[in-house]
Amino acid sequence: MKYGYFDDRNREYVITNPRTPWPWINYLGNEDFFSLISNTAGGYSFYKDAKFRRLTRYRYNNVPMDCGGKYFYIKDNDTIWSPGWKPCKTELDQYECRHGMNYTILKGVKEEVTAEVLYFVPLKTWAEIQKLTLTNNSSHPKQLKLFSFVEWCLWNAASDMENFQRNFSTGEVEIEGSVIYHKTEYKERRDHYSYYSVNTPVQGFDTDRETFFGLYNGFEEPQVVSEGMPRFSEAHGWSPIASHYLEVELQPGESKDFIFVLGYVENHAEEKWESKNIINKDKAKETIARFDTSVKVDTALAELRQYWDNLLGVFTVDSGDDKLDRMVNIWNQYQCMITFCFSRSASYFESGIGRGMGFRDSNQDLIGFVHQIPERARERIIDIASTQFPDGGCYHQYQPLTKRGNNEVGGGFNDDPLWLILGTTCYIKETADFGILDELVPFDNNPAIARSLFHHLTVSFDHVVNNLGPHGLPLIGRADWNDCLNLNCFSNDPNESFQTTENKTEGSKAESVMIAGLFVVYGREYVALCRKIGKSQEADRAQTQIDLMVESIKNNGWDGEWFIRAYDFYGAKVGSKENEEAKIFIESQGWCTMAGIGQQEGQCIKALDSVKQLLDCEHGIVLNHPAFTKYYVEYGEISTYPAGYKENAGIFCHNNPWIVIGETEAGNGNRAWDYYRKICPSYLESISDLHKTEPYVYAQMIAGKDAFRPGEAKNSWLTGTASWNFYAVTQYILGIRPDYDGLIIDPCIPQDWKSFKVSRQFRGATYQVTVDNPHGRMKGVKKIVVDGKTVLSNLIPLFMDGKSHDVMVVL
Ligand code: GLC
Ligand code: GLC
Repeated sequence: MKYGYFDDRNREYVITNPRTPWPWINYLGNEDFFSLISNTAGGYSFYKDAKFRRLTRYRYNNVPMDCGGKYFYIKDNDTIWSPGWKPCKTELDQYECRHGMNYTILKGVKEEVTAEVLYFVPLKTWAEIQKLTLTNNSSHPKQLKLFSFVEWCLWNAASDMENFQRNFSTGEVEIEGSVIYHKTEYKERRDHYSYYSVNTPVQGFDTDRETFFGLYNGFEEPQVVSEGMPRFSEAHGWSPIASHYLEVELQPGESKDFIFVLGYVENHAEEKWESKNIINKDKAKETIARFDTSVKVDTALAELRQYWDNLLGVFTVDSGDDKLDRMVNIWNQYQCMITFCFSRSASYFESGIGRGMGFRDSNQDLIGFVHQIPERARERIIDIASTQFPDGGCYHQYQPLTKRGNNEVGGGFNDDPLWLILGTTCYIKETADFGILDELVPFDNNPAIARSLFHHLTVSFDHVVNNLGPHGLPLIGRADWNDCLNLNCFSNDPNESFQTTENKTEGSKAESVMIAGLFVVYGREYVALCRKIGKSQEADRAQTQIDLMVESIKNNGWDGEWFIRAYDFYGAKVGSKENEEAKIFIESQGWCTMAGIGQQEGQCIKALDSVKQLLDCEHGIVLNHPAFTKYYVEYGEISTYPAGYKENAGIFCHNNPWIVIGETEAGNGNRAWDYYRKICPSYLESISDLHKTEPYVYAQMIAGKDAFRPGEAKNSWLTGTASWNFYAVTQYILGIRPDYDGLIIDPCIPQDWKSFKVSRQFRGATYQVTVDNPHGRMKGVKKIVVDGKTVLSNLIPLFMDGKSHDVMVVL
């Protein structure tokens, strides 16, 4: 069953039934101030860091799911309802949720009143705007009572959930006119407060939660709303909230707008106060004034739309398949930007208090948005590289607010350094900004030991070379890309983290064939970069190491029908026909086929065929097969998951595009497309009841064939799946690939595709590419005509002339 539909023209997903199989959410804000918002107005806001600067409260894992948010209550005589259905859950005569590019519109209709709320964070603004429009569709006047509601979080989202002996005594607010200020801890070490305002005089307010709800009521039934009377409560400790009370009279046909601003302010120490204990409100008032009329709000929304028009204008496809077009042109790109902003911190599966920014994750995320906002990709690369150590190893994570490496997690994930080569080379291919290589970038955030970014790439490469195991393959360390393959952990203590514990390391023979493949792919990128900038000796040196690695993989990484996955602590094979369970893994097949290892010997094709035969299923490609059914202390977390979930034979969508790319390298467009489509959310819309998560964004995991409920997705939004699928479909299936000296055109498509068009802005020109496939081919460019002239290579030159150029391609 479907719960809505795509409105591609407006770039929206429109939900028409509020009872989705799981909350279907959206993200507001794209720089500093962020909110999550569900299709029933659930969610929360934070400034930059979802852990340390949480502005409004949200309870994860609540019953029912997703309660707490940015709520409005409308009391129309005895009927009390909410525009987003929740929290009241009064049946609406009509309901609609439009999730768009960084905005959401919730609309409810009840007893001839329409309430429509537009939620968004304007560009360069530390506030969420909520424009509520009430319309009387009836033929008689309406007297409505309107209550707004947000609940403040006491800033640190972790201590907010646990330190009640303190928290219940610290809460402080100020109320001035129609603005409620939340200033807990402002008088001591904090220089920030938040506020919630409305652009019209209020007839009342409440700021104390229990007074508003009544101690025995939930979100669906605040006592104050039932009684239709605010209590003008002032919070002192306990749980501060902000609720405005407005009496609204509407004539037949009349509409009124109310603009609410939920904002955040930072003040310098010397400007904190207006007078004793009275906070300086200037900045809040400035922001409120910027959005105090509907015209101003509509202008700000138009600017936001323009911003997205620009971002999404860089790459567009017209394939004739609207499911593909809407993913490539809208939702996949949007999700890439969201993962850029949030990394793995805040979603409906990530609580915002767990992980910081991942070294490997952020580098991989880059490849999905670098074409949209290269300046911010540049900054991100420098931030990430600054958390590297002089020997090329790196902190696995860093905190976005401080940009410092996270000591609790530390380093030792031996795939991490290589991803910096991916991120940096993708950035340079997009921009030609070779200057970034000369930037001085600290090690371990210490400017005293800064070296050029190029040097960081060298030590990234060498970190693998300097950490080889007995088979000449890279030592795995705590884990490689697969966080759960913990070959040195050996944990029997449930209180130990699999990722940060290494109970056995001395004499470890644990090696990773996946890192080996990764090293060949990004090692070659490193070599190409060296040649490009004239470092041919370094290129030769690196190439020798790559050749050795290729030999090691061929000799020690091949199992007969597929690539093995690893060697364990004792030097025994992992992911081999010799194993009882998990005989084959996806990661090494992906990386070794992308690297083209054993192409001549037929190993690539064999490995890909084994994937098809053993790992592929109706819902996608599972990570390993057969699933582990018991705990293997020598393998770690991977064997803790029930069969078919997560890293234990789940369809871990992040790695499926590696096989897609591997198939395109082998020229099999039919299979590449089949794999692409299987996990692509827009193709799964009609099985939403099974799939559960949003049909407009990728989920990290879909339960695999061994699972209790195959096909059920989890962990939507914040996943490397977004960038990898965008990268795979645009650069390898559609085959439009930036390179240092131009745009490579090398599609690999299903035989039955007749043609497609791509528009690509690249280095100051627009390439209007038309690909025709008259002979039913899958790969291989036969002819290219650029602006009427035949060109001999499939590398389309740079024009940099601000003009549009026609590129006609025949396969
Ligand atoms: C999660 C992590 C990522 C890891 C993957 C596989 O997505 O964020 O770093 O590579 O899981 O374990
Ligand atoms: C990865 C895995 C997850 C695991 C985490 C680290 O993100 O996907 O299952 O819990 O690593 O603990």
